[in-house]
Amino acid sequence: MTGGDRLDFELHPNANPVPAAERSALLSSPGFGRIFTDHMVTIRWAESKGWYDARVEARAPIPLDPAAAVLHYAQEIFEGLKAYQGSDGSVTMFRPDANARRFRESARRMAMPELPDELFLRSLEELVRVDREWIPQGAETSLYLRPFMFASEVFLGVRPAMEYLYCAIASPAGAYFAGGVKPLTLWASEHYTRAAPGGTGAAKCGGNYAASLASQAEAIEHGCDQVIFLDAVERKYIDELGGMNVFFVFDDGSIVTPPLTGSILPGITRDALITLAREKGHEVREEQYALAQWREDAASGRLREAFACGTAAVITPIGVVRSPAGEIVVADGSTGAVTQGLRDTLVAIQRGDAPDPHGWVRRLA
Ligand code: PLP
Ligand code: COI
Repeated sequence: MTGGDRLDFELHPNANPVPAAERSALLSSPGFGRIFTDHMVTIRWAESKGWYDARVEARAPIPLDPAAAVLHYAQEIFEGLKAYQGSDGSVTMFRPDANARRFRESARRMAMPELPDELFLRSLEELVRVDREWIPQGAETSLYLRPFMFASEVFLGVRPAMEYLYCAIASPAGAYFAGGVKPLTLWASEHYTRAAPGGTGAAKCGGNYAASLASQAEAIEHGCDQVIFLDAVERKYIDELGGMNVFFVFDDGSIVTPPLTGSILPGITRDALITLAREKGHEVREEQYALAQWREDAASGRLREAFACGTAAVITPIGVVRSPAGEIVVADGSTGAVTQGLRDTLVAIQRGDAPDPHGWVRRLA
């Protein structure tokens, strides 16, 4: 059996959950990625059995053989999405079906088994249900969900592993950037690239993030918050940030975002914003945009706003881009009206404060 659709989750509640008072203290200032809930979900896969042994259990270290394939050849993928608690107590997730599909697409690119969407969705619902008291309340807060999967087979040969562990953990989250929403200063790396045509740029695999860290360190050395990557062929066109897609807003109201050519992650926030911007009357073009053009358009005033977007960071304005060729300041370097308007609209839908005409919000039963 490889489908796994009929799997039931065995519940093994955490015998030592974090006491309520301690949990409240943690939730008052969660930060990002620092604190975790009481449980995790695990599902195993073996070539001979398909998906089996689905559990909700206490979050705990995972025993791993030193020859586990992931430690050597990096067969690992992940997702990131958020659960919110509405003012009426309802719990929702934003477009988890899109994450399920992207998780399968990442798995295919990394020669890993594809977890059925139904099982992916059910695993997150089980986790959120058992840990719902960990969902922080308040603006800019959510329960960040991190499903991931890796090759657990004990084998050093280079081939797709025959055993995998799928796991989902949850982390109460505040703003992704310490200091809240303020314009980013970016570093345009000239010699490091993130993803080449035919590579793994469109997959959400851990290796892409490992490869971005040296350039991120370079960004910090130059006093910048994040790297903005250029295309790997011509080193001219904007790809994306290490964990966010990019949009540009022009003086005629039109908006440009780099196309899905296989070297950027097909962001779910990106997709939602293209729809929302068009509904607000903006012309949105998915086309290449060169760093040199950015410099020219910022100088002429044609470029009015630029922003980065993703699940963790939501929408964050871009104020400045530095590169060895000099500095570009976007408009006056502050948050623009279009950026703010799109952010407000998206966040209102995500939090259940606005109608959801696209059926993006999934309510926990
Ligand atoms: N690009 C990269 C490299 C990312 O890691 C992310 C975050 O998931 C995004 C873009 C934005 O994707 P999404 O909006 O689906 O979170
Ligand atoms: C997300 O936005 O969910 C991401 O995965 C970006 C980053 C935290 C890796």
